[in-house]
Amino acid sequence: MEVVIVPDAKAGGELIAEAMAQLIRRKPDALLGVATGSTPLPVYEALAARVRSGAVDMTRARVAQLDEYVGLPADHPESYRSVLRREVLEPLGIGMARFTGPDGTAEDVQGACAAYDKALADAGGVDLQLLGIGTDGHIGFNEPCSSLASRTRIKTLTQQTRIDNARFFGGDIDQVPHHVITQGIGTILEARHLVLMATGEGKADAVAATVEGPIAAVCPASALQLHPHATIVVDEAAASKLK
Ligand code: F6R
Repeated sequence: MEVVIVPDAKAGGELIAEAMAQLIRRKPDALLGVATGSTPLPVYEALAARVRSGAVDMTRARVAQLDEYVGLPADHPESYRSVLRREVLEPLGIGMARFTGPDGTAEDVQGACAAYDKALADAGGVDLQLLGIGTDGHIGFNEPCSSLASRTRIKTLTQQTRIDNARFFGGDIDQVPHHVITQGIGTILEARHLVLMATGEGKADAVAATVEGPIAAVCPASALQLHPHATIVVDEAAASKLK
């Protein structure tokens, strides 16, 4: 596991965006796994700036979703599909035909989860998976005590995560779905390169547990220690509890 400490979120965004741009120059149709949330926004902004300046052409890149709410229509503004279309696909000039994600509106949700794992494998696997991390060490929506071998599946959101995410639903927790589909930890570990970004002091304990703690389900992100090519990009605040 490689840990890179950067001065701030903008520098982290530039670093990761350049790694993604280099991957796309080498392999134009690479499959990028993307996360939602606040942390990766500087990455997407830095990548979009490279697209606008002509430094990289992303039109052949493919994008895969990490997680999705269950029961929100795909065109709901807060479905992760909609969020990723706004924040990633449109700014990078990638068409929806090159996007894949789990179907959160399927009648057979378990079938949709298995179908998504198969779709990722059939697509040749994720080349680079970008991850954020929760203050409790979650990756995707794999909350503490998720199996480190888990596959894509339905999960119930903790009350804390629903409270955290209410900000995206006008502050109304009743609007936040109770269930999500998330890539499992075992699924995430199959990506060829994992890049976890964490910024701010609030992530410092989770980063320390991820990098220096035991590999344990109480900190799902600690599973990255098992991966042969995992990069953790942290700002100084998020790195502040590393020894
Ligand atoms: C979202 C996701 C989550 C977030 C995590 C951190 O797709 O996978 O694991 O990365 O909750 O969220 P932020 O970045 O908003 O602090």
